[in-house]
Amino acid sequence: MSDLADQKRYSPACERNKDAILEVLQDVMPASGTILEIACGPGQHAVHFAAGFPDVQWQPSDIDPTSIASTLAWRAETGVPNLLDPVILDATATEWPLERADGIICCNMIHISPWEVTLGLLDGAARILPENGILYTYGPYKVGGKHTAPSNEAFDQSLRSQNPSWGVRNLDDVALEARRRGLHLIKTIKMPANNFSVIYKKTPMVDAIDV
Ligand SMILES: C[S@@+](CC[C@H](N)C(=O)[O-])C[C@H]1O[C@@H](n2cnc3c(N)ncnc32)[C@H](O)[C@@H]1O
Repeated sequence: MSDLADQKRYSPACERNKDAILEVLQDVMPASGTILEIACGPGQHAVHFAAGFPDVQWQPSDIDPTSIASTLAWRAETGVPNLLDPVILDATATEWPLERADGIICCNMIHISPWEVTLGLLDGAARILPENGILYTYGPYKVGGKHTAPSNEAFDQSLRSQNPSWGVRNLDDVALEARRRGLHLIKTIKMPANNFSVIYKKTPMVDAIDV
């Protein structure tokens, strides 16, 4: 095996959820332009999603260099032509390596990172999306402050025992912070294994209505 192939990570969960996620993405994301993937992890999703969006420049990113290396390995193996070089991107940074993206996706980061990372994701999305641009997120959530399944509650406890700043978030809290930044929740879709697709659209803030 080459050095690059040695860097490739495989996620059974990505294999299980990639088709269901792609189906939603093809419904809600732009079919051309640049889509930024935040927290791409192994890059297994990136090659699959880029192949499903042949007219999009798919831009994977992650804070972790090992994710960048794994994504490069997946790209080398699959040869997907519209998958751009993955870039290091820390969602909490006040400047991202891209000044604009036509759409943004982020799977399974919000619960496996501190709350500040979610706020950074929302800040950055509000900054670089065009008007009517879409932010798509995927993962488990509490709804109305309650877990949606016993398995999610157990998962939440195991996350918090690994890192007290992690945990399954309350969807209403995330949606409120998004709305404060002009990202309005337009759709939630129940996904397999008690996950949600959550879709936000950047729309202008209305502070006051003239009458
Ligand atoms: C559970 S993995 C999800 C990977 C992939 N999206 C998936 O669905 O399998 C969480 C990812 O979030 C990334 N991450 C954590 N903190 C981050 C941050 N501040 N900015 C960007 N990515 C971050 C980690 O490096 C990791 O790759």
